[in-house]
Amino acid sequence: MAFHIGAKKGEIANTVLLPGDPLRARFVSENLMQDSFCYNEVRGMYGYTGFYNGKRVSIQGAGMGIPSNTIYAHELINTYGVRTLIRVGTCGAVLPELKLGQVILAITASSDSGINNQIFKGLNYAPAADFALLSAANDVAKKLGIDAMIGNVFSTDVFYSNEEDRWGVWAQHGILAAEMETSGLYTIAARFNVKALSILTVSDNIITGEVSSAKDREQRVSDMMKIALEIADE
Ligand code: HPA
Repeated sequence: MAFHIGAKKGEIANTVLLPGDPLRARFVSENLMQDSFCYNEVRGMYGYTGFYNGKRVSIQGAGMGIPSNTIYAHELINTYGVRTLIRVGTCGAVLPELKLGQVILAITASSDSGINNQIFKGLNYAPAADFALLSAANDVAKKLGIDAMIGNVFSTDVFYSNEEDRWGVWAQHGILAAEMETSGLYTIAARFNVKALSILTVSDNIITGEVSSAKDREQRVSDMMKIALEIADE
């Protein structure tokens, strides 16, 4: 057992999908996986292990923001020996032309989070996806006919901000969307020499104000989940 995960050793697969929402973990385990069981209910942060096309895989709710996400990533890696972490989450587009439901494969993540400043003493570390996972995700998306963009995202600590034109300079420098976890996840994965990738679905467009309904979100995230399940290492 770890501090926040109640699973026994061996109950968690080598690859873990990490949605923020534990109910999304349950939804995927019930609808896209076979023979799954719940290994964690601590804090209501459900985790399941099951099979996808015969391949053993786990999915673990990880909460919102870098502190929560990296607590789960740390325990999965260090207590349970997980080697591949795939974030499956939503993001807010910062380019007006990006449509709801667009899938984004995050090659890297910029951030306003203080966490990496603390670790790297104010210098600029560039958190990056595992290239083999990124490349596999791109191949699977093509095979499944899913339009997936590869690019830079922004991991923020601040969902509700007062700042005006907060995203202009970031969009101008190639940021596609804002979310709240990827830079932390990529940093932790690098530290412990495991693989990580964030696969994101645009749930809202911060510039145009478009927002997916909860029902739309459920349908739209299934492309992202399929990509993640397909590239999971056994
Ligand atoms: N901002 C930050 N994180 C997000 C957003 C957003 O608009 N949408 C989904 N995750």
